[in-house]
Amino acid sequence: MDTKVISTGIRYSNLPESYVRPESERPRLSEVSTCENVPVIDLGCQDRTQIVRQICDACKDYGFFQVINHGVSREVTEQMLQVAFDFFRLPVEEKLKLYSDDPSKTMRLSTSFNVNKEKVHNWRDYLRLHCYPLDKYLPEWPSNPPSFKGIVRNYCIQVRQLGYRVEEFIAESLGLEKDYITKVLGEQGQHMAVNYYPPCPEPELTYGLPGHTDPNALTILLQDLQVPGLQVLKDAKWVAVNPHPNAFVINIGDQLQALSNGRYKSVWHRAVVNAYKPRMSVASFLVPSDDAVISPPKALTGYDGSGALYKDFTYPEYYAKFWSRNLDQEHCLELFKN
Ligand code: OGA
Ligand code: NI
Repeated sequence: MDTKVISTGIRYSNLPESYVRPESERPRLSEVSTCENVPVIDLGCQDRTQIVRQICDACKDYGFFQVINHGVSREVTEQMLQVAFDFFRLPVEEKLKLYSDDPSKTMRLSTSFNVNKEKVHNWRDYLRLHCYPLDKYLPEWPSNPPSFKGIVRNYCIQVRQLGYRVEEFIAESLGLEKDYITKVLGEQGQHMAVNYYPPCPEPELTYGLPGHTDPNALTILLQDLQVPGLQVLKDAKWVAVNPHPNAFVINIGDQLQALSNGRYKSVWHRAVVNAYKPRMSVASFLVPSDDAVISPPKALTGYDGSGALYKDFTYPEYYAKFWSRNLDQEHCLELFKN
């Protein structure tokens, strides 16, 4: 291919060879059914105990759930999706100024997942940003479209508050103090992936993102309402999680799986692509502060700590391992097992 990214505005008539999965790894889209009972949790509910109970069930049975009345304003989410589309509609030369395949960069446009490690590419371009502290990172964000920085800034502030609230509910649902998780994780980092999946000539042969778990603590995903694409592994079957109006999809990441001593699972999920329409999703990731030690509380491991499933580690140690592998290998947490 001539360009590094696939969001060129030109429709491909065939899927380039480097994106074609071997037969055994293909998504088998006709076998995927829609998950009709994805938990939808109303965070506006006055009864905190009820929310905590619903979160507990959702985390145990699914590892993911959707939230409504979450406090992020509709205007802000609509503007976020709009500016994301506007960004990916920019001329390709303009976008390529931001291109990098170095995962250590704090702002970059990239494609697929880890182009230098993977054997088969994925039908995705993405803009990756660090978002906290805002004053530090905002200056390096794209200045085209001109409204990008202002809109994304507002979005990040509101999503962060939502994430911290959800972590408090999760702590309570594990029988811990409300601020247990937010204290252990310290002043959390916040990253964003703006994922753009252009129309794909042969969606049966490839992925937007292959099955993976998220390496961070908590993921808050805004899905394009028009085009479904997120699928989650539930009871050993892939199921589609279709966008719910005004909802975010929340999933537990590897750090909360470790911190909960495996009580809650970092769920396997993937993104499939669509033949006719482009799809957008905006993933916000909360990540532990660099010096936080990821170690489960005694209440969940037995008092001598002998029941700890994983070795203690820090996020920088974990993240280095995560990017040194390919996405569809074994669960990265396996490398930290006791
Ligand atoms: C991710 C992710 C899913 C989607 O960015 O980690 O899983 O629907 N995205 O785009
Ligand atoms: Ni993910």
